[in-house]
Amino acid sequence: ATTLGASAAATGRYFGTAVAAYKLSDSTYANILSTEFNSVTPENEMKWDATEPSQGTFSFGSADQIVNLAKNQGKKVRGHALAWHQQQPSWAQNLSGTALRNAMVNHVTQVATHYKGQIDSWDVVNEAFADGGGGGRRDSNLQRTGNDWIEVAFRTARAADPAAKLCYNDYNTDGQNAKSNAVYAMVQDFKARGVPIDCVGFQSHFNAQSPLPADYQANLQRFADLGVDVQITELDIEGSGTAQASSFAAVVRACLAVTRCNGITVWGIRDSDSWRASGTPLLFDGSGNKKAAYTATLDAL
Ligand code: XIL
Repeated sequence: ATTLGASAAATGRYFGTAVAAYKLSDSTYANILSTEFNSVTPENEMKWDATEPSQGTFSFGSADQIVNLAKNQGKKVRGHALAWHQQQPSWAQNLSGTALRNAMVNHVTQVATHYKGQIDSWDVVNEAFADGGGGGRRDSNLQRTGNDWIEVAFRTARAADPAAKLCYNDYNTDGQNAKSNAVYAMVQDFKARGVPIDCVGFQSHFNAQSPLPADYQANLQRFADLGVDVQITELDIEGSGTAQASSFAAVVRACLAVTRCNGITVWGIRDSDSWRASGTPLLFDGSGNKKAAYTATLDAL
């Protein structure tokens, strides 16, 4: 096939991108989006600060724009993210204990209910584990409401939208290390106790400090072997030219080699759309031209 989405679809997968609602009026951006990708993730529009700016008052306008575009163009939607320690509205940052727990549960219920039936996969919980060798949870206001907050979020999401696949999503979990081992243990425990979890997202933000790990495929496979789908959710790779192109191809090959790796999402369309302050980590240059990384990705799919 001649596009990323169609090539991925040929093996039953999707190839998606993060999308910013305010860029949809940019015709270069909108044309690449409609042509190349068959899944979208709202980059910021479904986060807590965007969807519940004051407690109990929900605002879905920008996220709805993206979901409606996806519906019109037959694309899947990855919902991102129901519960996260970042991009919380200030009212939530000022809560703790039972009040915060109840606010989180209500938030998950309201947002998942609003999009019921329209989300392929939800990042129910994002980035809840600590970096470094400790293999523990990240300290956060949500974690301080009790260690069971993650499973409560998953059970709440399942009750609100039983058809959506429910994912745990994180970074620096792409290879086997203390952090991914801790996530692995949580997924194993959830599976053993019947806590609803269907997928694990691997953000895959790679650069010189944190390159594509040699055991990437093996790590995806061990999670898949627990009985969950695995998804590459926020891929970007700092660099340029053939080195960058071969890293993108290696990511695609790793996913294709894992039966339950059912989709890849890049975190933006053009280099100029990247959340990274500098660099050229995406598949299209600032003018929307296909880079070597694009061709290598398409060829590997
Ligand atoms: C980033 C967005 O791309 C930026 O626009 C925003 O300012 C900050 O968040 N991990 C995640 C994403 O799960 O939500 C983050 O997105 C990038 C890191």
